[in-house]
Amino acid sequence: MAPSIPTGLQLTPLDPSFRENPYPILAVLREHDPIHRDDVMNQFVFTRHDDIQAILRNRNLLSDPRKGNPGTFAREILGGADEEPSMLLMDDPDHRRLRDLVKRSFTPRAVEKWRARVREVAERVIGQIEPGEFDVIEAIAGPIPTVVIAEMLGIDPGMHERFKQWSDASIAVAFSPVKDPADLVKAEAAREALDTFFRGEIESRRSQGGSDLISDLVAAKSDGDHLTEAEIVATCDLLLLAGNLTTTDLIGNGIKALLDSPAEAEKLRTQPGLMKNAVEEVLRYDSPVAASGRIAHEDMEFEGVKIAKGETLSVVLSAANRDPAVYPDPDRFDIEREDTHHQSFGGGRHICLGAHLARLEAQETFATLLARFPSLKFGARGHEHASSPGFRGLKELWVQADR
Ligand code: HEM
Repeated sequence: MAPSIPTGLQLTPLDPSFRENPYPILAVLREHDPIHRDDVMNQFVFTRHDDIQAILRNRNLLSDPRKGNPGTFAREILGGADEEPSMLLMDDPDHRRLRDLVKRSFTPRAVEKWRARVREVAERVIGQIEPGEFDVIEAIAGPIPTVVIAEMLGIDPGMHERFKQWSDASIAVAFSPVKDPADLVKAEAAREALDTFFRGEIESRRSQGGSDLISDLVAAKSDGDHLTEAEIVATCDLLLLAGNLTTTDLIGNGIKALLDSPAEAEKLRTQPGLMKNAVEEVLRYDSPVAASGRIAHEDMEFEGVKIAKGETLSVVLSAANRDPAVYPDPDRFDIEREDTHHQSFGGGRHICLGAHLARLEAQETFATLLARFPSLKFGARGHEHASSPGFRGLKELWVQADR
């Protein structure tokens, strides 16, 4: 008998079984209904690797949610903002213009220069932890990405804590289909505070110069073009929004995967040369961005399924990454896996700009943690996954660290 096909909220971490382990549920969809019409969320849900790769690489499909049909997922959940969207939700020619102006700060070479600073941040944060039981998310995975991006932006260390609160509050509602009114009020206040703060930082870089990311954005030029103040503010907001929670989730998911597989953790501790591959395997195995999406630019037919112009195409990256048609034994966490290519940073025009930075942060964090606490194990207080739809991460992960 064919299994019942999960749909709507059953495909989000608001459902407790999906929250704890989405992979068997996604496997049912991938096997029995790989182009799933979800009437509850009003979108098409894709779960096969090759379909998802084709969608992400299709440069005609759209990202601006305001181009979605009324009532569709993208339009209702992401298309509500009055202000201009960030580049993540823009289409060409605006997208290309902005991305060209910002991308130089994020090339592998530009980011590699930050490795020593990132290592210092990881050593400082992890060095403060006393042996005993602690929550990895609160102590390590939360702070490291915020401190790193704050340092890159050239923000005064005295402001880092405020900065994290604002960015956490604005992320709490940004991508969620269920928005708590109290959270919305907090998020709005946080966005305003951040915007005012960034405008002040831009002003000071204009008058005094500097050697940080905000200075780079102020100075960025491409074909005689430059970024306006509003665009620099939107880009800084996006770096926080797109980079903080995702990297926290990568670090948290990676530490959990290593604790679940102590033999892999031991291999990584004794063979640091495996680190790059290990981080790619974490990205494949438990992708922090579980789903992304596009909007149909015209009436189309995808493998026999008719999709009207303006419909939302949701691509479940974490399902693509576990597709048995591509990965042998896909549910196994194997840091020596030969093919660790994955869809976790998306693809095509909008492929993640912060990918190298996220990788670097995870590599330095895992190396520092394994060196300081070689016999880390799960703590008595367990773990709890977070419930933001589209994302996959941990709210709490308690560990026991002995020296
Ligand atoms: C593990 C961590 C991260 C993951 C899994 C991740 C994932 C993604 C994904 C899937 C997209 C593409 C969305 C789409 O196709 O529409 C994306 C876009 C983007 N990411 Fe990341 N990201 C991470 C970290 C970062 C960091 C650290 C930054 C910057 C500091 C960043 C900045 C961006 C930006 C600016 C975009 C939009 C690019 C564009 O629209 O052209 N991300 N990210």
